Amino acid sequence: MTGISFDPFHSVFKYNQWVGNMSAFYALLFTVAFSIMVLGLLYKIIQYSLVPAPLKIPVTPAPLTKSGVVFRLLKEAVLFAALFRSNKWTWLFGWMFHMSLFIVLANHLRFFIKDVPLTLVLLQNVGEYAAFTMFIGLAGLLVRRLYVARVKYISAPSDYLWLVLLMFIGFTGIVMRFILHTDIIAVKEFSLGLLSFNWQALPLDFPLMVHLLLVAILMILLPFSKLLHIPGLFFAPTRNQVDNPREKRHIASWAADMDSEKNKMQP
Ligand code: HEM
Repeated sequence: MTGISFDPFHSVFKYNQWVGNMSAFYALLFTVAFSIMVLGLLYKIIQYSLVPAPLKIPVTPAPLTKSGVVFRLLKEAVLFAALFRSNKWTWLFGWMFHMSLFIVLANHLRFFIKDVPLTLVLLQNVGEYAAFTMFIGLAGLLVRRLYVARVKYISAPSDYLWLVLLMFIGFTGIVMRFILHTDIIAVKEFSLGLLSFNWQALPLDFPLMVHLLLVAILMILLPFSKLLHIPGLFFAPTRNQVDNPREKRHIASWAADMDSEKNKMQP
C-alpha cells in the first residue's frame, strides 16, 4: 500500500534549516546593504565637498552672515521653504511624506536600541499615524507625476521607482502593524544581533521578508540615485553661500593657487 509518509522529526529539522538559511541570507544582505549605503554616502559627501564653487551665486534675498546661512539651510531642510514658495501642492505632499518618514524611522530606532528611552516610547503613538501620512504623501507625489503633463514629460522611470518602492515599504509596514502582526521581539533580537555581528533568527513572515528586502534594495541604491539630495541640499552653492561679494572677494582655492603662482613669477 502506498501512502504519504510523514516524518515529524525530519520536517522540523528541515524547517529549522530553512529558517537558519533565510535568516543568514537577510543578515548578510543587511550588513552588505548598510555598508554600501554608509560608504557610498561618505564617498559622495567627500566628492561634493571637493567640487569647486568658483562663482558667488546665492539665490537672493540671501543671508549676509554665516549664522544666517545655517538658518536658511535649516529652513530648507525642515520646512522646505523654497518648495513652499514654488508650488503648494507639491510642498504639501512632499513635506507630509518627508516628515512622516522621519517619524517612522525614529520609531524604528526601538529595534536597534536595547533600552528604549521614554521619548521614543511616547513617539510610538504618533508613529502609527505617520505610516498613513507617509503613504498619502507618496501617493500624492505619484499622482502628480502621472497626471501633471509638464512633470510627467520630465519624469524618468527611476522617479516612479522610488515612489513605488517607498509605498510598498510603507504598505508592508502598515500590514504588519495593523493586520498580520509579526514577532517584534524576535525582530529586535535580529536587529541587535546585526549590530553585534551575532546573527539571530528572523521571523519569516511574508510581509516582513518583503519589507526588509525592499529596505535593503533602497539602501543599496541610495548612494547612486536622486536620493542623494539628502546630503546634496547642504552643498548647493545657491543656498549655502553668504551674500557678501562686495565685503569679501570670493575666490575658489584653485584660482587662489593660480594667483599666487602668477605673483611669484612677476619680477
Ligand atoms: C527605509 C526604511 C524603512 C521604512 C520607510 C519603514 C516603514 C515602515 C512603516 C511605515 C511601518 C508601519 C508603522 C510603524 O510601525 O512604524 C513599518 C513597520 C515595521 N517595520 Fe519598517 N521601515 C523601514 C525599515 C525597517 C527595518 C530596517 C526594519 C527591521 C528592523 C523594519 C521592521 C519593521 C517592523 C517589524 C514593523 C512592524 C512594527 C509593529 O508591528 O509594531 N523596518 N515600517
